[in-house]
Amino acid sequence: MKTRIGIVGAGNVGATCAHISLMKNLGDIYLLDIAADMAKGKAIDLNQSKFLFGSDAAVDGGDDYSKLIDSDIIVITAGLARKPGMTRDDLLFKNFDIIKDVSLKIKQSKRTPIVIVVSNPLDIMAYTVYRITGFPRNRVLGMAGVLDTYRFYHNIQNRLNTPYKYMDSMILGSHGDTMVPLISQTKIAGKFIEKMLPAEEINALADRARNGGAEIVSLLKTGSAYYAPAASVVRMMESILTGRKGTLPCSVYTEGDYGYKDIFLGLPVQLGPNGLAKVVNIKLSEAEKKALDMSAASIAEQIAKIKDRI
Ligand code: NAI
Ligand code: 2OP
Repeated sequence: MKTRIGIVGAGNVGATCAHISLMKNLGDIYLLDIAADMAKGKAIDLNQSKFLFGSDAAVDGGDDYSKLIDSDIIVITAGLARKPGMTRDDLLFKNFDIIKDVSLKIKQSKRTPIVIVVSNPLDIMAYTVYRITGFPRNRVLGMAGVLDTYRFYHNIQNRLNTPYKYMDSMILGSHGDTMVPLISQTKIAGKFIEKMLPAEEINALADRARNGGAEIVSLLKTGSAYYAPAASVVRMMESILTGRKGTLPCSVYTEGDYGYKDIFLGLPVQLGPNGLAKVVNIKLSEAEKKALDMSAASIAEQIAKIKDRI
Protein backbone atom coordinates (compact mmCIF):
# COMPACT_ATOMS: atom_id res chain seq x y z
CA MET A 1 0.00 0.00 0.00
CA LYS A 2 1.14 3.53 -0.71
CA THR A 3 2.46 5.59 2.20
CA ARG A 4 -0.02 8.11 3.52
CA ILE A 5 1.09 11.40 5.02
CA GLY A 6 -1.36 13.55 6.95
CA ILE A 7 -0.59 17.19 7.69
CA VAL A 8 -2.63 19.19 10.20
CA GLY A 9 -2.39 22.89 9.41
CA ALA A 10 -2.16 23.86 5.75
CA GLY A 11 -0.38 27.13 6.52
CA ASN A 12 3.17 28.01 5.61
CA VAL A 13 4.98 25.09 7.24
CA GLY A 14 2.27 22.50 6.48
CA ALA A 15 1.89 23.38 2.80
CA THR A 16 5.66 23.65 2.25
CA CYS A 17 6.11 20.30 3.94
CA ALA A 18 3.52 18.87 1.52
CA HIS A 19 5.36 20.40 -1.43
CA ILE A 20 8.77 19.01 -0.48
CA SER A 21 7.24 15.58 0.28
CA LEU A 22 5.67 15.64 -3.17
CA MET A 23 8.99 16.56 -4.79
CA LYS A 24 10.53 13.58 -3.03
CA ASN A 25 7.58 11.34 -3.84
CA LEU A 26 7.22 10.20 -0.22
CA GLY A 27 3.52 9.26 -0.46
CA ASP A 28 -0.06 10.46 -0.81
CA ILE A 29 -0.89 13.52 1.26
CA TYR A 30 -3.96 14.81 3.11
CA LEU A 31 -3.76 18.47 4.14
CA LEU A 32 -6.18 19.31 6.93
CA ASP A 33 -7.03 22.79 8.16
CA ILE A 34 -9.93 24.48 9.94
CA ALA A 35 -9.89 26.68 6.84
CA ALA A 36 -11.15 23.74 4.75
CA ASP A 37 -11.40 25.54 1.40
CA MET A 38 -7.90 26.95 1.76
CA ALA A 39 -6.58 23.41 2.33
CA LYS A 40 -8.59 22.14 -0.67
CA GLY A 41 -7.28 24.94 -2.87
CA LYS A 42 -3.66 24.29 -1.87
CA ALA A 43 -4.15 20.57 -2.50
CA ILE A 44 -5.33 21.25 -6.07
CA ASP A 45 -2.42 23.62 -6.67
CA LEU A 46 0.06 21.06 -5.27
CA ASN A 47 -1.41 18.34 -7.48
CA GLN A 48 -0.87 20.51 -10.52
CA SER A 49 2.79 21.03 -9.59
CA LYS A 50 3.71 17.38 -9.30
CA PHE A 51 4.23 16.59 -12.97
CA LEU A 52 7.50 18.53 -12.88
CA PHE A 53 8.72 16.02 -10.29
CA GLY A 54 7.47 12.96 -12.17
CA SER A 55 5.24 12.18 -9.19
CA ASP A 56 1.81 10.55 -9.28
CA ALA A 57 1.20 10.98 -5.54
CA ALA A 58 -2.28 12.23 -4.74
CA VAL A 59 -2.83 15.33 -2.62
CA ASP A 60 -6.20 16.06 -1.07
CA GLY A 61 -7.27 18.74 1.39
CA GLY A 62 -10.12 19.78 3.66
CA ASP A 63 -11.19 19.42 7.27
CA ASP A 64 -12.15 15.74 7.31
CA TYR A 65 -10.32 13.88 10.09
CA SER A 66 -11.52 10.52 8.74
CA LYS A 67 -9.19 11.09 5.78
CA LEU A 68 -6.27 11.98 8.03
CA ILE A 69 -6.15 9.80 11.08
CA ASP A 70 -5.19 6.55 9.42
CA SER A 71 -2.07 8.02 7.82
CA ASP A 72 1.35 6.41 8.38
CA ILE A 73 2.76 9.76 9.51
CA ILE A 74 0.89 12.81 10.79
CA VAL A 75 2.69 16.14 10.94
CA ILE A 76 1.08 18.70 13.26
CA THR A 77 1.68 22.30 12.26
CA ALA A 78 -1.65 23.76 13.39
CA GLY A 79 -1.45 26.72 15.67
CA LEU A 80 -1.11 30.41 16.13
CA ALA A 81 1.96 32.59 16.00
CA ARG A 82 2.57 35.10 18.76
CA LYS A 83 0.88 38.45 18.01
CA PRO A 84 1.67 41.87 19.47
CA GLY A 85 0.28 42.16 23.00
CA MET A 86 0.21 38.38 23.49
CA THR A 87 2.46 36.95 26.16
CA ARG A 88 4.36 33.66 25.74
CA ASP A 89 1.92 32.11 28.18
CA ASP A 90 -1.11 33.35 26.17
CA LEU A 91 0.38 31.56 23.16
CA LEU A 92 1.14 28.47 25.23
CA PHE A 93 -2.48 28.14 26.39
CA LYS A 94 -4.06 28.98 23.00
CA ASN A 95 -1.89 26.47 21.13
CA PHE A 96 -2.36 23.93 23.91
CA ASP A 97 -6.15 24.08 23.31
CA ILE A 98 -5.63 23.59 19.56
CA ILE A 99 -3.16 20.72 19.98
CA LYS A 100 -5.34 19.05 22.61
CA ASP A 101 -8.29 19.10 20.22
CA VAL A 102 -6.16 17.74 17.32
CA SER A 103 -4.70 15.01 19.59
CA LEU A 104 -8.13 13.82 20.73
CA LYS A 105 -9.09 13.36 17.08
CA ILE A 106 -5.84 11.61 16.10
CA LYS A 107 -6.29 9.30 19.08
CA GLN A 108 -9.24 7.71 17.21
CA SER A 109 -6.80 6.25 14.65
CA LYS A 110 -6.79 2.47 14.39
CA ARG A 111 -3.24 2.50 13.04
CA THR A 112 -1.29 4.49 15.67
CA PRO A 113 0.46 6.81 13.20
CA ILE A 114 3.90 8.26 13.85
CA VAL A 115 3.30 11.88 14.81
CA ILE A 116 5.80 14.65 14.15
CA VAL A 117 4.91 17.77 16.11
CA VAL A 118 6.01 21.18 14.81
CA SER A 119 3.66 23.63 16.56
CA ASN A 120 5.17 25.91 19.19
CA PRO A 121 6.15 25.95 21.96
CA LEU A 122 7.54 22.76 20.48
CA ASP A 123 8.65 20.62 23.41
CA ILE A 124 5.47 21.38 25.35
CA MET A 125 3.17 20.72 22.38
CA ALA A 126 4.95 17.39 21.74
CA TYR A 127 4.39 16.49 25.40
CA THR A 128 0.70 17.39 25.00
CA VAL A 129 0.31 15.11 21.96
CA TYR A 130 2.11 12.28 23.75
CA ARG A 131 -0.02 12.51 26.87
CA ILE A 132 -3.37 13.04 25.15
CA THR A 133 -3.04 10.42 22.41
CA GLY A 134 -1.44 7.90 24.77
CA PHE A 135 0.67 6.68 21.81
CA PRO A 136 3.93 4.94 22.73
CA ARG A 137 6.95 7.18 23.04
CA ASN A 138 8.58 5.95 19.83
CA ARG A 139 5.58 7.27 17.84
CA VAL A 140 5.56 10.90 19.02
CA LEU A 141 8.48 13.09 17.92
CA GLY A 142 9.10 16.82 17.98
CA MET A 143 10.90 18.66 15.18
CA ALA A 144 13.25 21.47 16.17
CA GLY A 145 16.83 20.25 16.54
CA VAL A 146 17.24 19.48 12.84
CA LEU A 147 16.15 23.03 12.02
CA ASP A 148 18.36 24.63 14.66
CA THR A 149 21.30 22.54 13.41
CA TYR A 150 20.61 23.52 9.77
CA ARG A 151 20.73 27.15 10.91
CA PHE A 152 24.09 26.54 12.59
CA TYR A 153 25.36 24.87 9.37
CA HIS A 154 24.26 27.91 7.38
CA ASN A 155 26.24 30.22 9.66
CA ILE A 156 29.32 27.97 9.58
CA GLN A 157 29.12 27.75 5.80
CA ASN A 158 28.92 31.54 5.53
CA ARG A 159 32.09 31.80 7.61
CA LEU A 160 34.16 28.88 6.33
CA ASN A 161 32.60 28.13 2.95
CA THR A 162 32.30 24.48 3.95
CA PRO A 163 30.24 22.09 1.79
CA TYR A 164 27.32 20.49 3.65
CA LYS A 165 28.76 17.00 3.62
CA TYR A 166 31.83 18.14 5.58
CA MET A 167 29.86 19.65 8.48
CA ASP A 168 29.00 17.58 11.50
CA SER A 169 27.21 19.17 14.45
CA MET A 170 24.04 19.08 16.47
CA ILE A 171 21.89 21.39 18.57
CA LEU A 172 20.14 19.74 21.51
CA GLY A 173 17.82 20.88 24.28
CA SER A 174 14.74 23.02 23.97
CA HIS A 175 13.61 24.87 20.87
CA GLY A 176 14.10 28.16 22.65
CA ASP A 177 16.62 30.48 24.25
CA THR A 178 18.22 27.63 26.19
CA MET A 179 19.04 25.38 23.20
CA VAL A 180 22.47 23.72 23.42
CA PRO A 181 24.86 23.74 20.43
CA LEU A 182 27.30 20.85 20.84
CA ILE A 183 30.35 22.91 20.07
CA SER A 184 32.76 20.39 21.62
CA GLN A 185 31.57 17.82 19.05
CA THR A 186 31.34 20.12 16.02
CA LYS A 187 33.65 18.99 13.25
CA ILE A 188 34.46 20.51 9.90
CA ALA A 189 35.92 18.01 7.44
CA GLY A 190 36.86 15.84 10.43
CA LYS A 191 38.57 18.67 12.33
CA PHE A 192 37.17 20.07 15.58
CA ILE A 193 35.82 23.60 15.00
CA GLU A 194 37.38 24.63 18.33
CA LYS A 195 40.79 24.09 16.68
CA MET A 196 39.81 26.22 13.69
CA LEU A 197 38.15 29.35 15.07
CA PRO A 198 38.41 31.38 18.29
CA ALA A 199 35.73 30.67 20.90
CA GLU A 200 34.05 34.10 20.50
CA GLU A 201 33.60 33.52 16.80
CA ILE A 202 32.15 30.04 17.28
CA ASN A 203 29.80 31.36 19.96
CA ALA A 204 28.63 34.12 17.61
CA LEU A 205 27.80 31.52 14.92
CA ALA A 206 25.91 29.44 17.51
CA ASP A 207 24.10 32.50 18.90
CA ARG A 208 22.89 33.44 15.45
CA ALA A 209 21.45 29.93 15.13
CA ARG A 210 19.82 30.31 18.56
CA ASN A 211 18.20 33.55 17.38
CA GLY A 212 17.60 32.22 13.86
CA GLY A 213 13.82 32.12 14.20
CA ALA A 214 13.60 35.69 15.53
CA GLU A 215 15.97 36.97 12.84
CA ILE A 216 13.61 35.71 10.13
CA VAL A 217 10.45 36.93 11.92
CA SER A 218 11.88 40.44 12.13
CA LEU A 219 12.45 40.45 8.36
CA LEU A 220 9.24 38.70 7.25
CA LYS A 221 7.14 40.87 9.58
CA THR A 222 3.95 38.80 9.02
CA GLY A 223 4.99 35.29 10.03
CA SER A 224 7.83 32.99 10.83
CA ALA A 225 10.24 30.76 8.90
CA TYR A 226 8.84 27.88 6.89
CA TYR A 227 11.15 26.64 4.12
CA ALA A 228 13.84 25.30 6.46
CA PRO A 229 11.31 24.10 9.09
CA ALA A 230 9.48 22.11 6.39
CA ALA A 231 12.78 20.75 5.03
CA SER A 232 13.67 19.63 8.56
CA VAL A 233 10.38 17.74 8.96
CA VAL A 234 10.98 16.01 5.62
CA ARG A 235 14.50 15.05 6.74
CA MET A 236 12.91 13.24 9.71
CA MET A 237 10.27 11.64 7.47
CA GLU A 238 13.00 10.33 5.17
CA SER A 239 14.63 8.43 8.02
CA ILE A 240 11.26 6.91 8.92
CA LEU A 241 9.96 6.18 5.42
CA THR A 242 13.01 5.57 3.27
CA GLY A 243 15.58 4.38 5.81
CA ARG A 244 17.90 7.36 5.27
CA LYS A 245 20.64 6.93 7.85
CA GLY A 246 22.01 9.39 10.38
CA THR A 247 21.76 10.58 13.94
CA LEU A 248 19.36 13.52 14.20
CA PRO A 249 18.52 15.83 17.08
CA CYS A 250 14.79 15.36 17.78
CA SER A 251 12.58 16.18 20.71
CA VAL A 252 11.60 12.92 22.40
CA TYR A 253 9.88 11.81 25.58
CA THR A 254 12.55 11.11 28.18
CA GLU A 255 12.50 8.04 30.37
CA GLY A 256 15.82 8.54 32.11
CA ASP A 257 17.73 9.31 28.89
CA TYR A 258 20.70 11.59 29.67
CA GLY A 259 19.29 11.65 33.23
CA TYR A 260 15.93 13.29 32.36
CA LYS A 261 12.41 12.06 32.97
CA ASP A 262 8.88 13.00 31.93
CA ILE A 263 9.71 15.88 29.59
CA PHE A 264 10.23 16.20 25.84
CA LEU A 265 13.77 17.34 25.10
CA GLY A 266 15.97 17.56 22.00
CA LEU A 267 18.40 14.62 22.10
CA PRO A 268 20.47 12.77 19.46
CA VAL A 269 18.37 9.90 18.12
CA GLN A 270 18.10 7.39 15.35
CA LEU A 271 14.76 7.10 13.57
CA GLY A 272 13.39 4.12 11.68
CA PRO A 273 10.13 2.58 10.41
CA ASN A 274 8.62 2.68 13.92
CA GLY A 275 9.68 6.24 14.68
CA LEU A 276 12.20 6.52 17.48
CA ALA A 277 14.64 3.60 17.16
CA LYS A 278 17.07 4.69 19.89
CA VAL A 279 18.50 7.62 21.79
CA VAL A 280 22.20 7.89 20.97
CA ASN A 281 24.61 8.57 23.81
CA ILE A 282 27.16 11.25 22.99
CA LYS A 283 29.80 12.52 25.37
CA LEU A 284 28.96 16.08 26.37
CA SER A 285 31.40 18.53 27.90
CA GLU A 286 30.66 19.60 31.47
CA ALA A 287 29.43 22.99 30.25
CA GLU A 288 27.15 21.36 27.66
CA LYS A 289 25.61 19.01 30.24
CA LYS A 290 25.01 21.96 32.55
CA ALA A 291 23.37 23.89 29.72
CA LEU A 292 21.22 20.85 28.88
CA ASP A 293 20.14 20.67 32.54
CA MET A 294 19.03 24.32 32.34
CA SER A 295 17.19 23.67 29.11
CA ALA A 296 15.42 20.65 30.60
CA ALA A 297 14.47 22.71 33.67
CA SER A 298 12.94 25.45 31.50
CA ILE A 299 10.85 22.86 29.62
CA ALA A 300 9.72 21.21 32.88
CA GLU A 301 8.59 24.64 34.12
CA GLN A 302 6.47 25.18 31.00
CA ILE A 303 5.02 21.67 31.12
CA ALA A 304 3.96 22.28 34.73
CA LYS A 305 1.72 25.12 33.47
CA ILE A 306 -0.36 22.83 31.25
CA LYS A 307 -0.24 19.53 33.14
CA ASP A 308 -3.54 20.03 34.97
CA ARG A 309 -5.29 20.91 31.68
CA ILE A 310 -4.41 17.60 30.00
P1 NAI B 1 0.54 29.43 9.70
O1 NAI B 1 -0.24 30.44 10.43
O2 NAI B 1 1.00 29.70 8.32
O3 NAI B 1 -0.32 28.05 9.65
C1 NAI B 1 -0.99 27.54 10.75
C2 NAI B 1 -2.27 26.91 10.23
O4 NAI B 1 -2.92 26.22 11.31
C3 NAI B 1 -3.30 27.91 9.67
O5 NAI B 1 -3.59 27.61 8.31
C4 NAI B 1 -4.51 27.73 10.57
O6 NAI B 1 -5.75 27.88 9.89
C5 NAI B 1 -4.31 26.29 11.06
N1 NAI B 1 -5.05 25.98 12.28
C6 NAI B 1 -5.26 26.75 13.37
N2 NAI B 1 -6.02 26.08 14.25
C7 NAI B 1 -6.28 24.86 13.71
C8 NAI B 1 -6.99 23.73 14.16
N3 NAI B 1 -7.61 23.71 15.34
N4 NAI B 1 -7.06 22.67 13.34
C9 NAI B 1 -6.46 22.66 12.13
N5 NAI B 1 -5.76 23.71 11.66
C10 NAI B 1 -5.68 24.79 12.44
O7 NAI B 1 1.76 29.05 10.64
P2 NAI B 1 3.11 28.29 10.22
O8 NAI B 1 4.14 29.27 9.82
O9 NAI B 1 2.75 27.18 9.29
O10 NAI B 1 3.57 27.69 11.64
C11 NAI B 1 2.80 26.66 12.24
C12 NAI B 1 3.29 26.38 13.65
O11 NAI B 1 4.59 25.81 13.59
C13 NAI B 1 3.41 27.60 14.58
O12 NAI B 1 3.04 27.23 15.89
C14 NAI B 1 4.90 27.92 14.51
O13 NAI B 1 5.34 28.66 15.63
C15 NAI B 1 5.47 26.53 14.47
N6 NAI B 1 6.83 26.42 13.95
C16 NAI B 1 7.68 25.58 14.63
C17 NAI B 1 8.95 25.36 14.18
C18 NAI B 1 9.84 24.39 14.89
O14 NAI B 1 11.05 24.39 14.67
N7 NAI B 1 9.30 23.50 15.71
C19 NAI B 1 9.47 26.05 12.99
C20 NAI B 1 8.49 26.87 12.32
C21 NAI B 1 7.21 27.04 12.81
C1 2OP C 1 11.42 29.10 14.22
O1 2OP C 1 12.39 28.73 14.90
C2 2OP C 1 9.16 29.99 14.76
O2 2OP C 1 10.03 28.06 15.87
C3 2OP C 1 10.03 28.82 14.71
O3 2OP C 1 11.55 29.67 13.11
